[in-house]
Amino acid sequence: MSGAASRRYLVRPAHSVQGELAVPGDKSISHRALMLGGIADGRTDIDGFLASEDCLATLAALRALGVHIERPSERQVRVYGAGREGLRAPAGRLDMGNAGTAIRLFMGLLAGQHFDSTLVGDASLMRRPMERVAQPLRAMGAHIQTQQGRPPVQIRGGCALQAIDYTMPMASAQVKSAVLLAALFAQGRSSVSEPAPTRDHTERMLRGFGVELVRDGARVSLAGGARLQACRIDVPGDFSSAAFFMVAGCLAATGDLTLRGVGVNPTRTGLLELLRLMGADIRVEPQAGGGSEPIADIHVRASALRGIRVPERLVPLAIDEFPVFFIAAAAARGETLVTGAAELRVKESDRLAVMAEGLTAVGIECELLPDGLRIQGGAVRGGRIDSHGDHRIAMAFAIASLIAHETIEIEDVANVATSFPGFPGLARSIGLALQEEA
Ligand code: S3P
Repeated sequence: MSGAASRRYLVRPAHSVQGELAVPGDKSISHRALMLGGIADGRTDIDGFLASEDCLATLAALRALGVHIERPSERQVRVYGAGREGLRAPAGRLDMGNAGTAIRLFMGLLAGQHFDSTLVGDASLMRRPMERVAQPLRAMGAHIQTQQGRPPVQIRGGCALQAIDYTMPMASAQVKSAVLLAALFAQGRSSVSEPAPTRDHTERMLRGFGVELVRDGARVSLAGGARLQACRIDVPGDFSSAAFFMVAGCLAATGDLTLRGVGVNPTRTGLLELLRLMGADIRVEPQAGGGSEPIADIHVRASALRGIRVPERLVPLAIDEFPVFFIAAAAARGETLVTGAAELRVKESDRLAVMAEGLTAVGIECELLPDGLRIQGGAVRGGRIDSHGDHRIAMAFAIASLIAHETIEIEDVANVATSFPGFPGLARSIGLALQEEA
């Protein structure tokens, strides 16, 4: 799916960004819209869909499961729901590419079906832990096999699922969502409790499809057997993609850098709080639209950042933004300390180790901790970065060019297309000197 490991970015120093832009649609919401639309009754119209490799893997898997899907345009999708009993056995293995969200949510969706299925992915996904989802699903009665905890994931059909009251050992929206999806097909009322708040797109969207969900503090529950009613979904701009430009604005905006139509669901916006704690000047201007998800225009001005101790409660709320947050920390005066972030080690790459390696390569002093990083703000030289095929590492170091003294060369960037197609063009449109090479 995402090959071409030889693609790279050459990013020359540029010390000013300006203008306004709209980032592509939200990845988490696009995956969920396809999946829920796929098992709903009726036609779900998705507008603002993210046509990235990850979401296209979900789309292809649903087609392989018998769901009819049309694409009137790049950003519009029509899902003709198969209904709750309507998915069919796929002809072969379902390839999730680089997408952790796709594989884990499909595990929940497929655990209670009447047919067998096997889920695989690219080299990065084949290394990622799946038992965190398999365990609660087995406790519900599913038959799921992993290979030493990793994909391929084999799911046996025809298992009658029972409800579960599950307390998650880690804060993970993917685990929570997988259990909620399986719970739709289980007998009885299931609940999931989370140790800290995580993104709640699944809960919001299930309600939009007419499912009754009860939230009581950290616990969310639903009854099995509901039929989903198709609806219209407007996908907001992805906060996690906007994050790169929020940091770019803090480092080098001339005037206002404006990001239009960004999803600002409070379970996603931890980076806003972190940057403000560092002294950033960011204004959030709420906008109408976005359906069950709040949206806003975000205005960023350049600010002198100072290092902070990251409050651990903000870690799950900024979980995908740490690569670029670490670039903000490199630009800040003084030390920044992140702990309680061991989950970063099991993302598309080990983001603690890979960021520590990259920061060191460009001359920033940092210390790798078992569950975090200590970063001393300083001068960024330039140098060669290996992104280890991780899209967010590649984009984060492109932003570092705004404080670099020499060119930053970023290897292995093809996977940027898994979450943010068009990143190089948007980055150039506000002033980054980014060149992509095969
Ligand atoms: C996601 C949840 C998070 C996040 C991932 C998307 C989702 O993963 O890192 O990029 O869409 O549910 P975890 O649940 O593993 O924290």
